[in-house]
Amino acid sequence: MKVLVTGGSGFIGSHVVDQLVEAGHKPVIYDRLPSPFRDDIQTELGELSDLTMLELAMSGCDAVMHLAAAADVNEVAKMPVESEAANARGTLNVLEAARGAGVKRVIYASTIWVYTGESGERVDEESNLGMPNHLYTASKLAGEMYCRSYNELYDLEFTVLRFGIPYGPRARPAAVVPAFVGKAMDGQPLTVAGAGDQSRRFVYVEDLASGCVKALDPVAANRTYNLVSDSSVTILEIAELVQELVAPTGIEYTEQRTADYVGVEVSGVRAEEELGWTAETSFADGVSRYVEWRREDEALAPVSLQSSTAAVATKSISDAVLRVRKSTATALAYAVGSLAILTAYVIAIDSLGLPDAQVGTLAVTMSAALGVFLSIELLWSNPKTRTLSAITASLISAAFVFAVLTPWGHKMFHLATPSRSVIILTITGVALVIALASAGISLARRRGLIAEGARARA
Ligand SMILES: NC(=O)c1ccc[n+]([C@@H]2O[C@H](COP(=O)([O-])OP(=O)(O)OC[C@H]3O[C@@H](n4cnc5c(N)ncnc54)[C@H](O)[C@@H]3O)[C@@H](O)[C@H]2O)c1
Repeated sequence: MKVLVTGGSGFIGSHVVDQLVEAGHKPVIYDRLPSPFRDDIQTELGELSDLTMLELAMSGCDAVMHLAAAADVNEVAKMPVESEAANARGTLNVLEAARGAGVKRVIYASTIWVYTGESGERVDEESNLGMPNHLYTASKLAGEMYCRSYNELYDLEFTVLRFGIPYGPRARPAAVVPAFVGKAMDGQPLTVAGAGDQSRRFVYVEDLASGCVKALDPVAANRTYNLVSDSSVTILEIAELVQELVAPTGIEYTEQRTADYVGVEVSGVRAEEELGWTAETSFADGVSRYVEWRREDEALAPVSLQSSTAAVATKSISDAVLRVRKSTATALAYAVGSLAILTAYVIAIDSLGLPDAQVGTLAVTMSAALGVFLSIELLWSNPKTRTLSAITASLISAAFVFAVLTPWGHKMFHLATPSRSVIILTITGVALVIALASAGISLARRRGLIAEGARARA
């Protein structure tokens, strides 16, 4: 299957991409950033706000795994408007683009945080969901609701996956496992609140990714699944495990936070029964693999950057810069090549011995066609520049009509009414110029040089 993975450059998405490849599928990444982990996968750089770009990226896809989101609750709290736009309206755009592109199914990454309920209460996919407290959960829940609405209204299949708390290679440094491992590696003691008995259901990221791939199964159409492990781990157990695996740097106990929420107990039975999926990796094995990855990753980073967080971030940025340089070089090579082809075309026509006025008409027509094409192609799809697009295209068309089709224009610009052979040459030239421009724009768009508004919607 050809599967578009939004957020395929991120923590969980990158593992989903790996496992899709392993399972023989063809993933395509859609993300605002290039993947720091793979450069062998087709990548469409774009924003979730760019409906046109999303739809183009989905063309020919059988399914979409929608993971792109503002996924860090602290970031969401800092940037509520941008986060809502990404999580709620971004999901709406993904669904609308899928509808437009004729994609069969959208698989949506949600979270077990949508379960409210009493501490320790057992919940499953049929449990009633209360009103969410956090904007992150509210915006993720909005995405779930939009999936259902699109199924109801337009028959677009969905699968909602409510992820447990993921950990493993490539995790964000601020999460609890990476933070403890980072501290222990730096020789610092680990801090635990109260007795450290708050428990969480973690899920190893590669297990989670395999659950996403299993959700492509026809049985998962219009179903919701919790992807969680079947055992809980306390914060103290994590600290003790990290001490054992990394270094015995000691545990410091701080005051218990008031009424620390233990969390509901989420059942993963449905995923096991219907998808044959369980989180197979034990917590000890998963953390041990994470530590191994972290050591390898830090050993690969330049010596001056060995403080983990900076190393991960800088690696992504330098990879992105390298990509942009490569893209710019490709675009420049393309522009020079296209100009050479066009110059050769005009020189070839000039050598036919046609009168200058005829060649002038041909050149003016080709330029006008290019101008109208570019103003529509680059400006029309963005509502902010739509008026500008219409004005520019109209002005160029009016100037062309005046110059080429009226006797005054002919005189003023020394042009002639085209002969039959010049009309044929002009049509060929216009087709050539538009084909070259269109290929150039689509190349620039694929490389992320043009992110917004590239083609008018039908
Ligand atoms: N990490 C968790 O603890 C957790 C838990 C449950 C559910 N989830 C869900 O899983 C999904 C993936 O989470 P993650 O931890 O891999 O996050 P991540 O931040 O590592 O990856 C998200 C990716 O989406 C991209 N992205 C973000 N906003 C975008 C936008 N507006 N346009 C285009 N690309 C955009 C980012 O560049 C990034 O590559 C999210 O939907 C998240 O809500 C995460």
